[in-house]
Order: sequence, then structure tokens, then C-alpha cells
Amino acid sequence: MRKKIIAGNWKMYKLPNEAIKYIEEIAPMVADTTHEVVLCVPYVDLFYTLLTTQGTNIKIGAQNMHYETQGAYTGEISGEMLKSIGTQYVIIGHSERRQYYNETDETVSLKLKKAIECELKPIFCVGETLEQRESGKTEEIIKTQVKIGLSKLEKTQVNNITIAYEPIWAIGTGKTATAEDANNTIKSIRTEIANLYGSDIANEIIILYGGSVKPENAKELFNMSDIDGGLVGGASLNAEEFSKIVNYLKVI
Ligand code: PGA
Repeated sequence: MRKKIIAGNWKMYKLPNEAIKYIEEIAPMVADTTHEVVLCVPYVDLFYTLLTTQGTNIKIGAQNMHYETQGAYTGEISGEMLKSIGTQYVIIGHSERRQYYNETDETVSLKLKKAIECELKPIFCVGETLEQRESGKTEEIIKTQVKIGLSKLEKTQVNNITIAYEPIWAIGTGKTATAEDANNTIKSIRTEIANLYGSDIANEIIILYGGSVKPENAKELFNMSDIDGGLVGGASLNAEEFSKIVNYLKVI
């Protein structure tokens, strides 16, 4: 049985004082969940949220990292730096980073390798644009992203990765893929993983859906056979709303 992961992606929102208040508010609301609860926060919030989540079941992640250990890379943060303060997760290859900061499948593959070396848990994002979807290229695009992204890892490292399938047209737009559509694309990711690494790894690897997940649609999405939870942007900014997504089984 694969466990469910419900991860929030705060993007460029929340000052440290707001982050601390949020954690204090949400911690008791998600204390009895059996799901893994993760919040991926801006760099300056990492230390504060790591302190505030001590003694809770909430895990903290960053939203990006560099693939080198150190060097003259002004403005960058390394995996070692994230690990040194106790960060547990890191999002790699989010579509906003691919779109605005020139991340490619190649840089994503270097970052995934480094994140694993640093013993961070990467949430590796893949997804197609509307144009690619409308021209029937979804599966081809996603398979290429998965294949190149994972290409620098040893076979034994692959199921330390969590994949997040996030159709770009569904991010922040209020449009969600239908649960069947999302499940089918995620199934095709599993098929690709099976082709590359064998069916055991394909059955074990955790694959999330992301793109306008809300309390109202979480249950339908997360109950699908191959969807192992979600990566949640906008709806993770409000503690009550995000707690309802974590506790989706209780939402009527
Ligand atoms: P959204 O963002 O939930 O606001 O659509 C998801 C994401 O970008 O990870």
C-alpha cells in the first residue's frame, strides 16, 4: 500500500511571522492524520517553520535548490544548505521554474541527483501545457520529462522520488483535470517507470496530482487508484482550507 502525501506549495507567499502563525493554527487540525503532511515554504521561512513544527507531524520542504554543492552562484541555495538546517523535502522542476527561470529536463535531472545525495526527499514535477495537451502530446511530453529527469539516478534511488503530475493549464486557474484524466496520465507515468525500472518500482513510487486541488475536489482525486495525494498551491495558503484537504476522507 502506497502512503498518501499531501504537500502544500506556498510559492512566494508568507512572511516568517505569518508562517509561524499558520503552523500553530494547522498543527492541531492535522495531528491525527495518517497521511504525510508537507509544507514547501519560501527559503526565509524554512528555519522558522522547522522550529515551529518540532514535535508535530508536519514536514517542511523548500521549493527549489541548486545542483552544485557550493560556488559562485549568486542568489542560489544548495541541497547541503537545506539539509543542514533540517529541511526534509524539496520541490524540483516546478513548471513555474521551468517557465520563468529556464529550468530544463537536464537541470532537473542534476538537481534530483543532488537532492538524493543530500538525503532530501524530492517532489519532482512534470506536466504538459494546454497547447501540448490539445495537440495530443501529453503522454509523449510527460514520458520524456520523467525519463530525462530520472536519468542520472541509480535504479535503487528512483523510489526515493515523489513525482507530482501537474498539468500546467490547471495550475492556479481553477481548472482541474477530471479525476479520470489525471488518473490515466498518472497510470501512464507508472507504465513508463515500469518500462524503465521494472514493475516493483512502478507500483511503489508515489505520484501526486497538482493543479487547483481544493477541499471540494480532493476526495474524488485522491480516491482514484493511482493518485497518491496532491501538491496544493493556492488552497494551501489558508490553514483551515489546507487542513480540509489533508483530512479529505472526513469531508462529506
Ligand atoms: P494550484 O498550484 O493548487 O494553485 O493550482 C499547484 C502548484 O503549482 O503546485
